[in-house]
Amino acid sequence: MSDLMPSRAGIQSFFLPPEAPRKPRIRRAEGIWFEDTDGNRLIDVSSGPVASNLGHGNPRVLDAMMRQARDAAFAFPMQFESEANIALGERLARLCGPGLDRAFTVSGGSEAVETAIRFARQSAVQRGDGSRWKVVARMPGYHGNTMGALAVSGDKAAHALFGPLLRDMPKVPAPFTYRLPANHTAETNARACAAALEQTILDEGSETVLAFIMEPVGGLATGALVAPDVYYTAVRDICTRHGVTLIYDEVMSGAGRTGRFLAGDHWPARPDIAVLAKGVTAGYTPMGVVMVAAEAAEALAASGGFQAGFTYFANPLSCAVGVAVLDELTGAHTGRDLIANAGTMGARLRAGLERMAAGSRIVGDVRVRGLLLAIELVADKATQRMIPLPLMAPYRVQAIALRHGLALYCRRTGGGEFGDWLMISPPLIVTAEDVDLILDRLTATLMEYEAELVRDGVVA
Ligand SMILES: Cc1ncc(COP(=O)(O)O)c(C=O)c1O
Repeated sequence: MSDLMPSRAGIQSFFLPPEAPRKPRIRRAEGIWFEDTDGNRLIDVSSGPVASNLGHGNPRVLDAMMRQARDAAFAFPMQFESEANIALGERLARLCGPGLDRAFTVSGGSEAVETAIRFARQSAVQRGDGSRWKVVARMPGYHGNTMGALAVSGDKAAHALFGPLLRDMPKVPAPFTYRLPANHTAETNARACAAALEQTILDEGSETVLAFIMEPVGGLATGALVAPDVYYTAVRDICTRHGVTLIYDEVMSGAGRTGRFLAGDHWPARPDIAVLAKGVTAGYTPMGVVMVAAEAAEALAASGGFQAGFTYFANPLSCAVGVAVLDELTGAHTGRDLIANAGTMGARLRAGLERMAAGSRIVGDVRVRGLLLAIELVADKATQRMIPLPLMAPYRVQAIALRHGLALYCRRTGGGEFGDWLMISPPLIVTAEDVDLILDRLTATLMEYEAELVRDGVVA
């Protein structure tokens, strides 16, 4: 897209051969818009990788960032307390509610997932449960790219490559609601998936199972999967019954994106630990957070302290950004409740996507909670047959969308084995007019791709 001399020095040299078309080069970003160096304007329709929840260039976040950078950009938590860190902890405790009222802040989602697992393990050892170490997770699922996070990620393609470096962890099926196993409804499938969790715990030996980690509303790995209600209660009961710590990975779904601060808040069941990242600092600085119960944190503190830490944990600059972002989300200074807006705009976007799906031959399913939405692409809606994987459907749509002024994000889990989908997850600041513009451009994009598939005989 850009005619600029391709740089050999930037990170793209790890991804793109020199002759490959270059990615747009970003010059400016403001609100929901990107502008590239060719002057093209693109809507940030997936909030980057579902991270830029406030959009770009928020003046109050930038002020807070500058203020903190001037006051103390860095102070290490093993040496100092930081007001920004305390303020962020207090806000997170208020927003996450009872039982999730202590915040351990790190530098990203993968680091936070690993820190949550370490917290669960050290707590188990400290209470005399040292035989527990296995972390059960879902297939497919994504919890990050560092080795420990990858070990609990249900991604066979990634494990085929990096498996020898990992300690693989038990997996149970994710409770898909589309392309169901034979003779199942979404609800009976969800019950079967919960039963598979219990059976796995028993097979592994419940005294060895430390935790179960899952995304309450799915991200890229399942395309915004929302399980039937019965699943959440069943999983909570199973974990409680077997002394297994329930960890909700809210890296993508948390911080207001689904219309509640935690996606888990849509159901009465509560996790023991919640992991957040992306939306807490809305992409302005790196951040990951582990939320645990005050008593659990205090128990570790009393027994010598949590064995965890990184150079950039509780980083004051990121904490100050987090405070400013949470204040924007809740409308503390603006009176605009962006979490509520995620609910209303999500409903508008959903209605539009469902209308579009009804008129499309390739949109097989629309999955939604608030502004975490995904559309599943198929070659045949009646049979739910997938578009052949070598066609790389999501990436092709991404390329077409650029020409229609949309910056879409996609990433396959497990090489697309479970289906191909696209995340439609704009910043939480979107207005009704923004949503309508997104729908127009997306419809044009998908119609163009559908015509291409019909022309090539992929779609009948
Ligand atoms: C559900 C989930 N968990 C963990 C991660 C890893 O977070 P990070 O990329 O910040 O390390 C991601 C990233 O997309 C995610 O979606």
